[in-house]
Amino acid sequence: MNLPGGISRRGLFLKLAVLFNALVGIILAVPIVRYIFSPMIRQRRPGYASWISLGSLNNFPAGETRLATYRNPVVNPWDGVTADIACWVRHVDTENFQVFAINCAHLWCPVRWFPQSSLFMCPCHGGVYYADGSRAAGPPERGLFQYSYKVEGDSLFIKAGEMPTPTLAANIKPGGPRCA
Ligand code: FES
Repeated sequence: MNLPGGISRRGLFLKLAVLFNALVGIILAVPIVRYIFSPMIRQRRPGYASWISLGSLNNFPAGETRLATYRNPVVNPWDGVTADIACWVRHVDTENFQVFAINCAHLWCPVRWFPQSSLFMCPCHGGVYYADGSRAAGPPERGLFQYSYKVEGDSLFIKAGEMPTPTLAANIKPGGPRCA
């Protein structure tokens, strides 16, 4: 039996089925395509490559390691306080710093600084790092990740959009990333 317009019922269902499948395919493809292209999208977002101030150098006395926080420059309105990110700042001497990601290089738990023993310790699986961020003991296979930093005026800045990762760390020379 043909419907008005000369199309058969079977033909109509076939077309509807093809349309439905195409729609489902597109819906499923969107997150996959977004995932594949996310590094490019992220780099184009404002703030990704910006320098973020960690505050005055006076907050980081020479020879000490202090906790600092910054607001993630690649932030969504719904991120709330989760966009406030902590890091450890080690003032080595004069204008030499090391800024460590707070996350353990093993499974990303936040590490704590113990000035009494001059060690960073991870509460999750016992990972331990020396004061310069290098691995001391436990399951982590490498030292703490470090941010690129620069000193401008009397403030310390980090490139926070580039979250420390093994890829980024591979491009960083030992002794800490330093940008002019
Ligand atoms: S997450 Fe730090 S040792 Fe496992």
